[in-house]
Amino acid sequence: MKDQHFAGYTLSCRRFRFKLSEVMKLLKLTYWAKDRDAKTTRKSLRYAKPYGVFAPDGHMVGFLRVTSDRSTMYYLADVVVADEERGKGLGLALVNYALSDRKVCRGKGMLLTHTANGLYEKVGFYNKADRLMVRDPLPDEMYKPADAE
Ligand SMILES: CC(C)(COP(=O)(O)OP(=O)(O)OC[C@H]1O[C@@H](n2cnc3c(N)ncnc32)[C@H](O)[C@@H]1OP(=O)(O)O)[C@@H](O)C(=O)NCCC(=O)NCCS
Repeated sequence: MKDQHFAGYTLSCRRFRFKLSEVMKLLKLTYWAKDRDAKTTRKSLRYAKPYGVFAPDGHMVGFLRVTSDRSTMYYLADVVVADEERGKGLGLALVNYALSDRKVCRGKGMLLTHTANGLYEKVGFYNKADRLMVRDPLPDEMYKPADAE
């Protein structure tokens, strides 16, 4: 999918733009992935499609990734915008950009949140908590980094 521009920032999903250190810096701002190690983060990037917001100097100020079967379901994860860049519409622009990738975001969309429901309601998500099923990681997956393979 092509890059797009929003308020002087670039929205992109070109893999060469995503630096592990920058992804980890943004994830450190989240309550769910602040302790995620480099190996696990690298692997999570490899098996999902990343989308980012990039400042004019090229550094990443917003990130999310989508896991998808490209036919019936897709899952948005790790949505985060840098502290100093929040409230400018970048988060919404990034989510919209990812959702416009129709090869990836096709079928039922899913995500987990209890803090940013209002943002996702703007793009058509609705609360379905009573129907949502989640399978927690197995205990050995919770405390060990993901293997390289
Ligand atoms: C949630 C987050 C990505 C929003 O990014 P952002 O760039 O500040 O959001 P935007 O400026 O694009 O907001 C767009 C709209 O969504 C709304 N919105 C943003 N964050 C929201 C939140 N946490 N709850 C409810 N609505 C929210 C805004 O009010 C705004 O609506 P408006 O245009 O009517 O005023 C950012 O606050 C963040 O990184 N938070 C920490 C990580 C996190 O909680 N991620 C989401 C968990 S799934």
